[in-house]
Amino acid sequence: MCGIFGYINYFVEKDRKYIIDTLVNGLSRLEYRGYDSAGLAVDGDKKNEVLAFKEVGKVAKLKALIEEEKPDLTKVFDNHAGIAHTRWATHGPPSRVNCHPHRSDPKWQFAVVHNGIITNYKELKAFLETKGFRFETETDTEAIAKLAKYIYDEHSSIDFTTLVKAVIKELQGAFGLLMKSVHFPGEVVAARKGSPLVIGVRTAKKMKVDFVDVEFAEDGAALPAERASQNVALKKQSGLSAGLGAGLLAPPDKSLLHRSQSRAFLSDDGLPQAAEFFLSSDPSAIIEHTKKVLYLEDDDIAHIHEGQLNIHRVGKTDGISNVRAIQTLEIELQEIMKGRFDHFMQKEIFEQPESVINAMRGRLNAKEKTVTLGGLRQYITTIRRCRRLIFIACGTSFHSCMAVRGAFEELTELPISVELASDFLDRQAPVFRDDTCVFVSQSGETADSLMALRYCLERGALTVGFVNVVGSSISLMTHCGVHINAGPEIGVASTKAYTSQFVCMIMFALSLSEDRASKTQRRLEIMDGLAKVSDQFKEILKLDQSIKELCLKFKDQKSLLLLGRGAQHATALEGEFTFSTNDTFFLVNMNILGALKIKEISYLHCEAVMSGELKHGVLALVDENLPIVMILTRDDIFAKSLNAYQQVIARSGRPIVICNTGDKEFPGEKTDKIEVPHTVDILQGLLNVIPLQLMAYWLAVAEGLNVDFPRNLAKSVTVE
Ligand code: F6R
Repeated sequence: MCGIFGYINYFVEKDRKYIIDTLVNGLSRLEYRGYDSAGLAVDGDKKNEVLAFKEVGKVAKLKALIEEEKPDLTKVFDNHAGIAHTRWATHGPPSRVNCHPHRSDPKWQFAVVHNGIITNYKELKAFLETKGFRFETETDTEAIAKLAKYIYDEHSSIDFTTLVKAVIKELQGAFGLLMKSVHFPGEVVAARKGSPLVIGVRTAKKMKVDFVDVEFAEDGAALPAERASQNVALKKQSGLSAGLGAGLLAPPDKSLLHRSQSRAFLSDDGLPQAAEFFLSSDPSAIIEHTKKVLYLEDDDIAHIHEGQLNIHRVGKTDGISNVRAIQTLEIELQEIMKGRFDHFMQKEIFEQPESVINAMRGRLNAKEKTVTLGGLRQYITTIRRCRRLIFIACGTSFHSCMAVRGAFEELTELPISVELASDFLDRQAPVFRDDTCVFVSQSGETADSLMALRYCLERGALTVGFVNVVGSSISLMTHCGVHINAGPEIGVASTKAYTSQFVCMIMFALSLSEDRASKTQRRLEIMDGLAKVSDQFKEILKLDQSIKELCLKFKDQKSLLLLGRGAQHATALEGEFTFSTNDTFFLVNMNILGALKIKEISYLHCEAVMSGELKHGVLALVDENLPIVMILTRDDIFAKSLNAYQQVIARSGRPIVICNTGDKEFPGEKTDKIEVPHTVDILQGLLNVIPLQLMAYWLAVAEGLNVDFPRNLAKSVTVE
């Protein structure tokens, strides 16, 4: 949900072409986060001048606009700060004026790109309007730029970091933001609260430090005396928080102005060394420049100037580490490229034989029959004794929780509930200290899930994260957790993250039941099943072309019904989202997963129905025309699922059946079949979802739709 990217060079000569190309390329890597408009700001030809480019549509259109406007690309800068943004609209429709970067005034004294939502922007705007500011956009972000100018004008001797601290103290809501200013040329200040930000560093010499000290800037406890007094002074002087318009910062005493301690990236002789910095919402946009990155935490402010990176904090300091480690990214560039595939979604579907192996690597020992989840080791006994296990997630991640609910109930015999994060919060559901709350999220940044996590932390529950993105908010905020190791998922429709979440959560259930003798045989059976999943995925993926042909039959349909029963209802729900334009498709007895995928990328109305419920109403829709997909793989409720099949056939329906290889129950003349290998019932949904992902993909392709960037959706939903 919006991607931000920044590039700063110091003592490294770069022409404007390189700078703009780097920004545009960064945006194109982040495009999955938002793709309704894009923009960037770089320095102009004259001192104190900013060149901004903004365009509605995808990043390619921004690139075309820049080519059309023909800025002088040869101008060379040895110190320059550029910022860029790709948008998923929240406040104000996609339009050039609403595009980021936003400015403080027509001269662009302060320029801001922002990911997140400022909930008190109306109050800020009203206050700033009384001070003579004229707003030109419908966005919340514009208030940030204008507030910066207001504070600067009041206290022109203020340094950049102190200024941004004063600004963000007034902001409510969530933000990851970058600010540049003509008053601080070649500098950028980045701030994070609730929206991710990562900084990549490339230095000419070997990097000297592997961490950056954090300066605690608010309550003074961790500061040397002089700095502490500075902060006390600032606290006293700040008026806006106490009431808008109450006066804002009085000019800080020059001697108290911020002087950074944490001089990172200096050469041996103590002089600044040549350095480049890449700031991004996501490391996938940084990996081609450097693998050395540092993740900002909430309330961190990073100031980049003169080849140095300094990190400061606002807000609480208790229990916060004063070190931000420089980490080495483990992803490779090819992982975020499409390679031989036409779309990221297609690539990610085909990566699943490998991604599930990565989820299990070093965790499942199929020979020794053991499961070890290092990230949970310390907490597993506490979790076994918890009052309830509550799974909380959104969208596809919610579906993966639904898909494994039965496995947890059976193996742990604990009360299990699966909650949609938004609904859980709306109800203010009761949470107790002895509950364990499990947060499942691909991005680790979904606002609803994050809010629910904070809610559970406040109530003292133990929290566990299952996330894909390392360093994401959920992975940082939970007490313990498991990285699902699916690798970067770029396609907006989640595929490999679902199967990796499924596998990791099954391993969690196996770990929790390790001490139960009565479950030994069942556990062994499941571990054997897990060890075969990757090869079984490969088998199913061979059906790709036949599924493509099958989908052509549905090309002009309006609706689709997906039917599934028991654990397969979750598979049907997941498939539901992704089918094709303006039509309805029903999935019968399918897992939740099937239906979501179909709605999401094919814009086809697709509904997942529990097959036991068919006869209670939905059957009225069934005739020879309605496309129906039924999940009818063998498990102990197969006989009941078969009733639904008979009910459909009796109404002249011609369902597509997902069944086990070689099942003779479904004569070819009455049904189209997609055959998948058989596995232990608990894992069958993992296999059944693959044909649905492929159907969703091919239906969207047949409609000529943008598979990777479905309309109105974004990969990481950082708004409530
Ligand atoms: C659907 C999809 C979304 C996400 C949902 C939660 O394909 O991707 O439904 O699953 O927005 O996102 P995460 O898992 O990042 O919390």
